[in-house]
Amino acid sequence: MTKALEGVRILDFTHVQSGPTCTQLLAWFGADVIKIERPGGGDITRGQLVDVKGADSLYFTMLNHNKRSITVDSKNPQGKFVIEELIKTCDVLVENFAPGALDRMGFTWEHISSLNPRIIVASIKGFGPGPYEDCKVYENVAQCTGGSASTTGFRDGPPLVTGAQIGDSGTGLHLALGIVTALYHRTHSGKGQRVSVAMQDSVLNLCRVKLRDQQRLKAGPLTEYSQFGEGIPFGDATPRAGNDSGGGQPGRILKCKGAPDDPNAYIYFITQAPVWEKICDVIGEPTWKTDPEYATPKARLPKLNEIFARIEAWTMSMTKFEAMDILNKYDIPCGPILSMKELAEDASLRNTGTVVEVDHPTRGKYLSVGNPIKLSDSVSEVKRSPLLGEHTEEILRDVLKLSPGQIGDIRQSGAIGGAREAAE
Ligand code: COA
Repeated sequence: MTKALEGVRILDFTHVQSGPTCTQLLAWFGADVIKIERPGGGDITRGQLVDVKGADSLYFTMLNHNKRSITVDSKNPQGKFVIEELIKTCDVLVENFAPGALDRMGFTWEHISSLNPRIIVASIKGFGPGPYEDCKVYENVAQCTGGSASTTGFRDGPPLVTGAQIGDSGTGLHLALGIVTALYHRTHSGKGQRVSVAMQDSVLNLCRVKLRDQQRLKAGPLTEYSQFGEGIPFGDATPRAGNDSGGGQPGRILKCKGAPDDPNAYIYFITQAPVWEKICDVIGEPTWKTDPEYATPKARLPKLNEIFARIEAWTMSMTKFEAMDILNKYDIPCGPILSMKELAEDASLRNTGTVVEVDHPTRGKYLSVGNPIKLSDSVSEVKRSPLLGEHTEEILRDVLKLSPGQIGDIRQSGAIGGAREAAE
């Protein structure tokens, strides 16, 4: 079975999380991803949040599977030569440096495309063109400036960031789609192009329903928000809605047996209109099926607090898994709040390769999230991340076809690091 992106070569000039997420996905699909790192330390995340002394951090290993690492000083003339030669052999260059950094290295779009007119240059920046285009951006900045933080949390609390890395990993996913789209376009046009994704834009894209609600405010209060049922007036911007569902079906996180001592003994419960009658039977309120005060979604909106309190009295009598088993029988949408511990131990996620155990020469075995995108005809196998500069020699020799003498000269100039620098 061939891999979907076999034959595609990526020059991976990414670091930290957003760019590496993108190139890791492409590597899982079979692209040959050559990660350029700075000699000496490499990607800064190798040494961040270290849990095993002397080994690459989980932050690095979990974002750089299936790649090869070459250490090149991009500011050294010989290093520039190596990068230029790599540009000539690659299909895509991916980078997420601070605005202007790639140009300052001398790798402008004009220069790159003159070296290889078929190359696709894909970039992540914090912001698109505008007042903030020169700013450096990290995850939470993107969550705050992309509309996520202002709409996450409870109405009476401060804005909140979410644990899902929608700014970094979310933008990496957007960029990966841009890259494969540009690769497809190249099959007709024969030419490369630039692909740019701003973290603010990606977060806003994921917050689409909140911009929907912003516009709905003009037509009146957002009736599915708990705030409406509580009689609290709406302001002029989409408010934070706690755990209210983002769709038209009211939902809440409810306590189950063990809560609140067990911080994850909760279930998400949606009072979806088509299954309302089943909900009434399950929770022991059959009269609500016909009582005009409860029978229609509109009638229920002002009573959501009372209704969810009654449902919670039911969910608290059992564990989240028992509640899920019962509700699933009736097709009532719900979801237990799963902890990272539970997800790490989940047998079905292991079976599908979404959670994988990887062996690493300096850190031993660890868990990672594998490829969540499954192709029926192209398997994804998760291979450990490279040690710093592990493939420097191999890439110069096999990809650039440089002679031992040329490699020696480049090494003499200090443009490349030694193999297995991390271990040295
Ligand atoms: N050899 C020599 N120099 C190298 C190099 C190499 N192999 N790789 C990187 N560098 C240099 C860059 O050229 C740059 O130098 P310059 O400032 O003199 O031009 C320098 O390293 C620092 O790069 P920079 O991107 O500014 O890193 P940073 O650590 O200061 O900032 C970010 C990190 C993430 C904030 C920034 O890169 C950024 O805003 N990126 C875009 C948005 C993004 O992806 N953010 C999320 C990251 S998860």
